[in-house]
Amino acid sequence: MKNLLKNDGICADGLDRSLCVAPMMDWTDRHCRYFHRLLAPQALLFTEMVTAEAILHAGVDRFCQHDVREHPLALQLGGSEPDRLAAAVRAVEPFGFDEINLNVGCPSPRVQSGRFGACLMAEPELVAGLVGAMRAQTERPVTVKCRIGIDDMDPETGLDRFVDAVADAGVHVIYLHARKAWLNGLSPKENREVPPLDYSRAERLARRRPDLDIILNGGLTNRDMTKAVLQPLGQIFAGVMLGRAAYRTPYQLGLFNQLLSQKKGPPDLQEVAWKMTDYAEKQIKTGVPLQAITRHMLGLCAGLKGARAFRRELGEQARMPGNDWTLIEKAVKGCLHMNKNLNEKKVA
Ligand SMILES: Cc1cc2nc3c(=O)[nH]c(=O)nc-3n(C[C@H](O)[C@H](O)[C@H](O)COP(=O)(O)O)c2cc1C
Repeated sequence: MKNLLKNDGICADGLDRSLCVAPMMDWTDRHCRYFHRLLAPQALLFTEMVTAEAILHAGVDRFCQHDVREHPLALQLGGSEPDRLAAAVRAVEPFGFDEINLNVGCPSPRVQSGRFGACLMAEPELVAGLVGAMRAQTERPVTVKCRIGIDDMDPETGLDRFVDAVADAGVHVIYLHARKAWLNGLSPKENREVPPLDYSRAERLARRRPDLDIILNGGLTNRDMTKAVLQPLGQIFAGVMLGRAAYRTPYQLGLFNQLLSQKKGPPDLQEVAWKMTDYAEKQIKTGVPLQAITRHMLGLCAGLKGARAFRRELGEQARMPGNDWTLIEKAVKGCLHMNKNLNEKKVA
């Protein structure tokens, strides 16, 4: 897939963004990221969104601690005040994130009431000021994740104006969720499904601003479908970002990574299971409940025989007293036993 991407996915700042796993609240916590890293050694991973206020009030450790193996790792911030975002960027600097990203795509009412997230698309000059203030605090890339527009904004002029303003402020990487956000009347979940995807709008942006690295996000579910989207365009996008598909069907994430690293054969589930078992053992000894780790793994065998039993075993039994980390290895073994020809198997 790398050959379908601009500069093989290596962006102007040197980071490989050919495959990115999207920031997802409640989902991409540190346990999830550790798991995703095993399946996709090359992907750029993202934290959940953290507001600048949370960093400054609730304490930086709580949101920023991570395992060194999670890198390359981007921290996503939310906020709308330049001083507060600048202070948050300063506070997180010692954690060594590879990139700091500003959320301009979240439509939730809670986020809107704080006047950040997607509603900021209507205020390009403000966002330019925010990223300028953030950049002044760090040498690391500051990037933006946004939609193609909001509400009745004209997605042609509105998006161009927005992107030009943040690019003038020094942002060279845009993660573009290729649909509008409708700020009134739709829940956050509906806002990920109802406004139609418009890859051609993303294409026009990437063609108009070849000096920027645009990462395509939204509705990319598997490798073949993603190839079908990218192939006819030439190498205009610098990478793809997967959200729900990576979380719900992590095996697909592994298949994406195989394609990027030109490796043959499917991801090695046995090895993933061993490493997650080892990780869970260490985490549990520090007081983390087993379920906090296994809840991210329920989709691991999606598309394989025995996926439902695997899900049940890991989902239900992880909560039972007496079960420990060995549950992970046992459940994966059970599934692999039912899929002896995994190497020849085509996963949906
Ligand atoms: C549970 C969930 C939580 C999300 N939280 C965030 C978030 O914190 N920040 C953000 O920019 N996008 C968030 N998103 C949106 C995703 O990053 C992504 O843009 C969206 O799901 C579209 O990509 P997909 O079709 O590959 O899932 C979230 C999505 C989901 C499903």
